[in-house]
Amino acid sequence: MRVLIVGGGGREHALAWAMSGSPLLEKLWVAPGNPGTATLAESVPIGALDLAALVEFAEAEKVDLVVPGPEAPLVAGLADALARAGIRCCGPTAAAAQLEGSKAFAKEICDAAGIPTAAWERFEDADAALEFVARRGAPIVVKADGLAGGKGVVVAATEAEAADAIRAIMDDRALGDAGASVVIEECLSGDEVSLFALCDGLDAVLIGAAQDHKRVGDGDTGPNTGGMGAVSPPAGFSLVAQAHALEAFVRPALAEMARRDTPFRGVLFAGLMLTPDGPKLIEYNVRFGDPEAQTLLPRLQSDLLPALVAACDGELRHFSLVQREIACVSVVLAARGYPGEFAKGGVIGGLDRAASTPHVAVFHAGTDVRDGAVVANGGRVLTVCGTGADLTAARAAAYQGVAAIEWSDAMFRTDIGLRALAREQAA
Ligand code: AMP
Ligand code: GLY
Repeated sequence: MRVLIVGGGGREHALAWAMSGSPLLEKLWVAPGNPGTATLAESVPIGALDLAALVEFAEAEKVDLVVPGPEAPLVAGLADALARAGIRCCGPTAAAAQLEGSKAFAKEICDAAGIPTAAWERFEDADAALEFVARRGAPIVVKADGLAGGKGVVVAATEAEAADAIRAIMDDRALGDAGASVVIEECLSGDEVSLFALCDGLDAVLIGAAQDHKRVGDGDTGPNTGGMGAVSPPAGFSLVAQAHALEAFVRPALAEMARRDTPFRGVLFAGLMLTPDGPKLIEYNVRFGDPEAQTLLPRLQSDLLPALVAACDGELRHFSLVQREIACVSVVLAARGYPGEFAKGGVIGGLDRAASTPHVAVFHAGTDVRDGAVVANGGRVLTVCGTGADLTAARAAAYQGVAAIEWSDAMFRTDIGLRALAREQAA
């Protein structure tokens, strides 16, 4: 198999790492890749959103399978363009990627398919939205309808906060066109977990579940980020609960998408909240998470590559993906200041020592190589993953790996997995 991964973050490094062990792999490229993926695959200097260049490259190199990491190229139509060229893409068409591209679309699918989710309404007019908030009261959740890079959701504790969010999103267009309309939702509470399923349009197989740590600071404080660390398996979400969730949140969505003639192929990521009334859908994403991929893939026992091909070919009914009964904890090293302003260029040492620590893997994201040295070149820079027989052992391995890294601008959470451990101990 000749495989092209699209993206350049920690998720794509983990995908390259998982696939490079497959006996079916003949040649692997990553576009644009990073210094970590470059140790496993050939980097291709094409950006993830340059669809025409990606298709041209895949045709010229007779690529058998394209695996997009991020959502943006999918929402922009990468899978459609590859399909026109007769090339497999393990990701949804632009129409099916609307499950992530539009919050209102995802909610419509939930309602049509009977999938439990927070009560909601969509508004294209700020005054009507403000009136609705005044009627419903707080707490209440305001979401920009379109893609907003994780910045589109405001969980408002007061009516004034919700009103400010509506004005900023709709009147000031703080998030651009993503804010042309808003979804306003009932505020739910409970632990959050993420379920990942591989889908072929009709069938779905469970990849696994993880718990992200979205806030920048210890104790879930500070602003939201792309994710500062994750654990798998998440506490309080057993394999049986995951199997139930596959039936409740994935299969009905697939059936509804197929009914609309826009079948969903690829990885469906269901963000769930475990509320006192049972699990409810917070959002769908149409891809692996980052750092969830780095946390799930080290647990995977099955070969990922043939399963991704089967998802493209509508053959998933013959497949299951087996997870090892081990735990994985991943810790993101970000540049001090992230998710706000941060410095680039700091030299990072100790990477080999970290990677050779037992049960540790280091995945690159925002790194670059200058004069032979690895330097920081982004907000989230590295993901350090530890595996072990249980969460305690996996945490210890991950933080041992972190301690081996020498980078003076590093910032990371010291409490990844502690919440899950506390929950496990309470149970
Ligand atoms: P999203 O971008 O949809 O993942 O939302 C970001 C975060 O906002 C989620 O991870 C939740 O913590 C929170 N959130 C979203 N929707 C709700 C809701 N209906 N009730 C409470 N919190 C929510
Ligand atoms: N870590 C959350 C995401 O990838 O969307």
